[in-house]
Amino acid sequence: MKKIGIGLVGCGVISDIYFQNIAKSDVMEVIACADLIQDKAKLQAEKYNISKSCTVEEILKDDNIELVLNLTNPGSHADVMIAALNAGKHVYSEKPLAVELEDGKRILDVANKKGLKVGCAPDTFLGGRLQTIRKILDDGWIGRPVAATAFMACHGHEIWHPGPEFFYKTGAGPLFDMGPYYITALVTLLGSVNRVAGYAKISFPQRTITSEPLKGEIIDVEVPTHVAGTLEFDSGLIANVMTSFDIWDSHLPNLEIYGSEGTLSIVDEDPLGGPNIFGGDVLLRHKDQSDWNGYPDAIPRNPATEWNSIPVIYEYNSNSRGVGLEDMCNSIIENRNHRASGDIAYHVLEILHGFYISSNEGKYYKVESKCERPELFELD
Ligand SMILES: NC(=O)c1ccc[n+]([C@@H]2O[C@H](COP(=O)([O-])OP(=O)(O)OC[C@H]3O[C@@H](n4cnc5c(N)ncnc54)[C@H](O)[C@@H]3O)[C@@H](O)[C@H]2O)c1
Repeated sequence: MKKIGIGLVGCGVISDIYFQNIAKSDVMEVIACADLIQDKAKLQAEKYNISKSCTVEEILKDDNIELVLNLTNPGSHADVMIAALNAGKHVYSEKPLAVELEDGKRILDVANKKGLKVGCAPDTFLGGRLQTIRKILDDGWIGRPVAATAFMACHGHEIWHPGPEFFYKTGAGPLFDMGPYYITALVTLLGSVNRVAGYAKISFPQRTITSEPLKGEIIDVEVPTHVAGTLEFDSGLIANVMTSFDIWDSHLPNLEIYGSEGTLSIVDEDPLGGPNIFGGDVLLRHKDQSDWNGYPDAIPRNPATEWNSIPVIYEYNSNSRGVGLEDMCNSIIENRNHRASGDIAYHVLEILHGFYISSNEGKYYKVESKCERPELFELD
């Protein structure tokens, strides 16, 4: 079978899982890898048996490379993607699509002009858990969705990432770093968003790194680290969203969808769980099992009517980062649309900006872009 030749740019922390998962695929292979720091590219090439480590310019000139995989820091996403598109390559990027909305638009415009594809992480919505939730929703198990909540509460990445400074600079913070997982999950499950109301603040202007090798160094925080707000979807559904690097612990669920006939819930023990991971439990409670039936006589709860754990019926339940890239490579071969698309990533980017614009201006932000819900994966 034909394999799509990939040039991987950005050989940092996240590149490992991409090298590993691409090596398992029948439809894609890494031809060359590059990094601003050439030693990093060389090390990853040796570790993963890639024959060529080189500069980004050499990747762009390589005719065997059909697609550039962009794993650089957010501030470099737009430049790397636009250069790759101008060199005639399809692009797939880690999230967010870009830092500035105008750059996101430019990426889509250049791709359209050149007849090339743009794909973007997160692809966790293609994981077993969120695909199962999508099927449950589409099959009407909780009736008509009426509301949702999405909460990402943790105390930041300086406890584990070897170079965590960028998480507190423009293009990151909890909203741009973790928000894409939550907002992409909501949009791919529930459709486009119409308007956003947001609040954003910095609770701790400096953070101390506790991970190695930079332990003890201080980071000056440049972006909000606690962002809360509300999304109104085109369907009229309302979702409460919070992303925070300022919270030590909480009992909040990661994601819940409330329907006319019941509730779907994701509650992970890992504070970096939720729509950020591929697998995990799906909990469902139908209205017939609700504590509200016969209230107050039904208190305390009848254990027979606790939440149902729904078996996950789709693949990709472990760290499958790159499944969106593989679907895109298949879509190039099969000449069809891919699921983790630039349109979704742009809509999500506009929503992220909407939180800040609303917070700064003290009024709703009206979202201009729209996107289609991607096709569910087919069940075997
Ligand atoms: N680390 C994670 O767990 C994780 C998880 C999901 C997504 N991501 C996303 O992946 C991306 C990278 O994150 P990371 O944790 O691997 O960061 P990292 O800092 O470890 O690695 C990024 C690499 O990109 C290189 N780079 C930056 N600009 C470049 C340019 N213009 N040309 C070539 N190389 C360039 C840097 O030198 C660095 O080696 C970010 O967008 C992040 O949001 C990271």
